[in-house]
Amino acid sequence: MPANPAGKTPQDRPRKQPEELRSHRWYGANDLRAFGHRSRTAQMGYSRADYAGKPVVAIINTWSDINPCHSHFRQRAEEVKRGIWQAGGFPVEMPAMSLSEPFQKPTTMLYRNLLAMETEELLRSYPADGCVLLGGCDKTTPALLMGALAMDLPTLFVPAGPMLRGNWNGVTLGSGSDTWKYWAELRAGNITEQDWQGIEDGIARSPGHCMTMGTASTMTAVVEAIGMCLSGASSIPAPDSRHAQMASLSGRHIVEMVWQDLKPSEIVTPAAIDNGVRTALALSGSTNAIVHLIALARRAGHALSLDRYDELARSTPVLANIRPSGQYLMEDFYYAGGLRAMLAQMGDLLDTGTLTVDGRTLGENLAGARVFNDDVIRARDKPLVASDGLAVLRGNLAPDGAVIKPPAAQQDLLRHTGRAVVFRDYNDMAARIDDPALDIDATCVIVLQNAGPQGAPGMPEWGQLPIPQKLLKQGVRDMVRISDARMSGTSYGACVLHVAPESYVGGPLAFVRDGDLIELDVPARKLNLLISDDEMARRRAAWVAPMPKFERGYGKLYLRHVSQADKGCDFDFLEPVDAREDGEPEIH
Ligand code: FES
Repeated sequence: MPANPAGKTPQDRPRKQPEELRSHRWYGANDLRAFGHRSRTAQMGYSRADYAGKPVVAIINTWSDINPCHSHFRQRAEEVKRGIWQAGGFPVEMPAMSLSEPFQKPTTMLYRNLLAMETEELLRSYPADGCVLLGGCDKTTPALLMGALAMDLPTLFVPAGPMLRGNWNGVTLGSGSDTWKYWAELRAGNITEQDWQGIEDGIARSPGHCMTMGTASTMTAVVEAIGMCLSGASSIPAPDSRHAQMASLSGRHIVEMVWQDLKPSEIVTPAAIDNGVRTALALSGSTNAIVHLIALARRAGHALSLDRYDELARSTPVLANIRPSGQYLMEDFYYAGGLRAMLAQMGDLLDTGTLTVDGRTLGENLAGARVFNDDVIRARDKPLVASDGLAVLRGNLAPDGAVIKPPAAQQDLLRHTGRAVVFRDYNDMAARIDDPALDIDATCVIVLQNAGPQGAPGMPEWGQLPIPQKLLKQGVRDMVRISDARMSGTSYGACVLHVAPESYVGGPLAFVRDGDLIELDVPARKLNLLISDDEMARRRAAWVAPMPKFERGYGKLYLRHVSQADKGCDFDFLEPVDAREDGEPEIH
């Protein structure tokens, strides 16, 4: 088992004394300021016996009336508090901004770093000895953890849990994936407006995050594999009574973590990050996880490169048969044994000696995990896909990398050369994509520029570029599509994403013109614009930088400091000082 620097396991090391608690500086001193803190705590109805000498645990709650994925978090916060009280701690709930994927425009990604900053500063400025993070909807998971990693107090994540399966006329519906699918069918005239209304009412029918293998399911599983939530927590459906039990247990456990002084810096090691990457790959998880894992790793002081991601992808089979790459949904995954069962199947692909929040190793937590449906969670010798759940591409069109999710694409498109049809930005695409006069056929390559971290801004999930209506009506359902945007984890198709550097800052994607030939070769990991170096240089010299999109406020801060996709889109000033001074933290 991993040991702390004193050579002790978390359970064996000397426990913190009450006077050593961070909150003692607020509550324990015999001075005027501590009097103020105590009198104002009394104002809220607490007596000294409620908090004196006890760990103060901040519950960072991203509940909001406009976040349907977190609508149960008011109740879950109460269950976490119950556990904290039971274990002899003092719970303090602190609301933080909610990044509601369906509602926040232009994209929640623009605000991931803001929630990370808010989390860090809430923990820094208040008397927190440890924290429980309530998140799950896409960007909330990485944001909360990025902030908590920066503060490095004992931290435990409570994942929101997936919602129940969708249902319409007896058909099982998956978040996102079936939205895109039936939208295409509606545009092609294959379903009616009445059908579409029925789908609208039945596709999201309980609290919880998207139940396909989107960013939410991927990132909460990654957090569990890294060791930052209780073992088995991430797969429990949000409305299941076992989810409430897990919340209460998390509350009891964080108090013990504070006494043990068990911090994220002991848990989020390079080996744990590799476990997170392998897990995302075995799930055929969202491409967004790459950006978030890179950002999380860098916050922990361990750089994760795109090439390391690709290296691990070449030897990681896809074991989870979950949409959009597979057939089932998260509810099925839970009944089949959940993430613990899948991690157990992964065996020696994982480093099972890594430490987790409960003070045990990942391997100890996986002991006895069983698969109850081997079609949902596949054995290593019967994978859904043998390897390459994700591929990193390079070439003159993406010198710093681009990504594609091969299992989610029409397979004959993975090696394809086609004529570019270029849209200069999202509005240009929206205005022209369905124009019957657009010169395009199924062999063309659709290119969207200015959709990256600075160009959009916020790198929205526009990467599943729409197929023109006239081609949909001909039966075309996939084409090669290239952008510097991200794509929802619930999306699918031969979509090349995260092209870096982005077009807005003068990356080569900015220089593509209608009619150019583009070569995509996923097995060879290549993405090239088939023009000469001289022509590329001519176009670069003629390129004029666009006007900044923000002149003031948070948007201006974002544009000035956000990094490119291959660096995790974090703010330069939020990364550890070592990372900034060296340019690159240690690569593993
Ligand atoms: Fe919240 Fe998909 S909308 S996870």
